[in-house]
Amino acid sequence: MSSAGGGRGEPAGAALDGISMATHESLIESFQRAGQAQVFAFLDTLGPTERARLLAEAAEVDLAELDRLNRTLLNSKAAAGIDLTDLAPAPYEKRPEHGGDGGAWARAKAAGETALREGRVAAFTVAGGQGTRLGYDGPKGTFPVTPLRAKSLFQVFAEKIRAAGVRYGRPLHWFIMTSHANHEATVAFFAEHRHFGLDPARVHFFRQGRMPAVDFSGKILLETRGSLALSPDGHGGSLRALSRSGALDLMAREGIDTLSYFQVDNPLVRCIDPAFLGWHRLAGSEMSSKMVPKAYAEEKVGHFCRQRGRLVVVEYSDLPMAMQRETDGAGGLRYLAGSIAIHVLDREFVRRMAEGGEGVALPFHRADKKIPTIDAAGNPVKPDRPNGVKFELFVFDALPFARHPVVIETLRADDFSPVKNATGLDSPVTCRDDQLRQFARWLRAQGVALPADATGRPEVAVEVSPLFGYDEDSFAEAWRARRPQPEVREGLYLE
Ligand code: UD1
Repeated sequence: MSSAGGGRGEPAGAALDGISMATHESLIESFQRAGQAQVFAFLDTLGPTERARLLAEAAEVDLAELDRLNRTLLNSKAAAGIDLTDLAPAPYEKRPEHGGDGGAWARAKAAGETALREGRVAAFTVAGGQGTRLGYDGPKGTFPVTPLRAKSLFQVFAEKIRAAGVRYGRPLHWFIMTSHANHEATVAFFAEHRHFGLDPARVHFFRQGRMPAVDFSGKILLETRGSLALSPDGHGGSLRALSRSGALDLMAREGIDTLSYFQVDNPLVRCIDPAFLGWHRLAGSEMSSKMVPKAYAEEKVGHFCRQRGRLVVVEYSDLPMAMQRETDGAGGLRYLAGSIAIHVLDREFVRRMAEGGEGVALPFHRADKKIPTIDAAGNPVKPDRPNGVKFELFVFDALPFARHPVVIETLRADDFSPVKNATGLDSPVTCRDDQLRQFARWLRAQGVALPADATGRPEVAVEVSPLFGYDEDSFAEAWRARRPQPEVREGLYLE
């Protein structure tokens, strides 16, 4: 399935030629019956290609699902906020340096390494987001992030995945979820860079689904006379996209039962982390997550909580600030466990969630947005305040459905420094500095004297290729084996 598209939502073209007139008519009728006839208001004014495109987009819409969302999420009473009753902080496995059980961590690491040697693990990146906040034009994964070589996010992940494959003697498969807007550019970027040394047959791209945006009365908005206002269905759409695209079947054929899930915006992520994989496996968990202690009460991350026996993540925008600021007896934050969007997923759990069934479904979230559209005369409108609603699925909403979910602590400095904003917090500058601090820590642990400021940022810029060392252990081995050991000075690049 490498670089194949993903079912629902494929661009018009070939598939459409097969749709008969009768199908078109029944499609249009179903929209009329659903009170969505405005979608075809300009149909008669369109040329054949535009017509075909509009009909194909309409065929993507699940009208029953949309009707349900309009009734539940647009209705102001039902949409009045999420349920915060019986909420308590979730327990998590502490790191050994913070009082966790060192022996249990060692057993977890060994179990994860075994799974990697057996070829049971694949990497999975969600890269369908629009990267609006960064203001970067292009798939976010192509954004340059490393301090010296300006390697892209995709290259950093590719090299970590390649290095893990070498270390455990089993090259890994890598699944990458794109969106309609960035699919072609993403696939082309990998081809142009020869998949960064990975076997192209093991790198699989598929598109996520799309959802129509509606106005506040639930009517589907048109972006132009001949196209719907469609947007990606959120990273939670990855579960159904994995199933629809054939990725789960491919995994089953290859003997892969575990997916290591991470976001495209975080180059520090340990994309393949044996200890995390091991905790997941030893607990018999279907979905596991990493947490970091929140740096301060207002930090914009999700919160791991327990609610009536189930693990849930409550977004920063949904947890009242008074609760985010609550402290425990010792003066620490009560809701300490921040979600950094790193998970391990069991293949058959993903299938179960994707297929849905009695009471098994991710809930949609509503986001009020400024959505470019057209007016009744068909002229473009660029709203300056929210004029409608987008619907999105979040992957962490699968946690309450998972058996034996585990949350483990990770060290922020080793796992999390996302590039989200153009400047300020979580920006290219903060991310570059965090990479430098990590390389400096690894070098210092090997006895290299490296002058640094009070935050640990070295005075000279150095870069370590993931192919040299992609975590502290692999770095230590490579450094000790390197003869002669290089002088650490400005511009040193280790590969
Ligand atoms: C997200 C999490 C937040 C977590 C934080 C950590 C949500 C709602 N919040 O915030 O709990 O603490 O990351 O960094 O997720 N994506 C898709 N398709 C989509 C939408 C997003 O693939 O339709 C991907 C993006 O490419 C990106 C990731 O999902 O890799 C995160 O998306 P983003 O919207 O930036 O999440 P945040 O609001 O930053």
